Amino acid sequence: MFNRIDHIGVAVEDVESALALYRDAFQMEVAHREIVEEQGVEAVLLDVGENHVELLAPLAADTPVGKFLAKKGPGLHHVAYQVSDIDATLASLKAAGLPLIDEQARVGIRGSRVAFMHPKGTDGVLTEIVEPAAGLAGH
Ligand code: CO
Repeated sequence: MFNRIDHIGVAVEDVESALALYRDAFQMEVAHREIVEEQGVEAVLLDVGENHVELLAPLAADTPVGKFLAKKGPGLHHVAYQVSDIDATLASLKAAGLPLIDEQARVGIRGSRVAFMHPKGTDGVLTEIVEPAAGLAGH
């Protein structure tokens, strides 16, 4: 069902200090940077071979990532698997009885389509599925 890991999401307090680690020390190339107002987040996608790290910094405390940081501090936030057909994958996951945060795919960064499963159905791992925009190898 899943083609490969698309990215791991990392919650950070501050994008610039996270970039000092991932871009400068780890020498990952920044592939994309986007502010997603409706999710209350600034996202930065860095390349690791064909896969990515997605840095997520909250735009305000009262946002999903802001609340995550207040509760757990910075660190691993989610894993995202790449799929070819997100609608078919969502139907399969629903048929398997998995609880979904997003019943329908929504627009993600770089024109991708994404959906999140609820961590209560995935042994505590917040899990995302990503169908990249046509012509893009990743999210
Ligand atoms: Co993600």
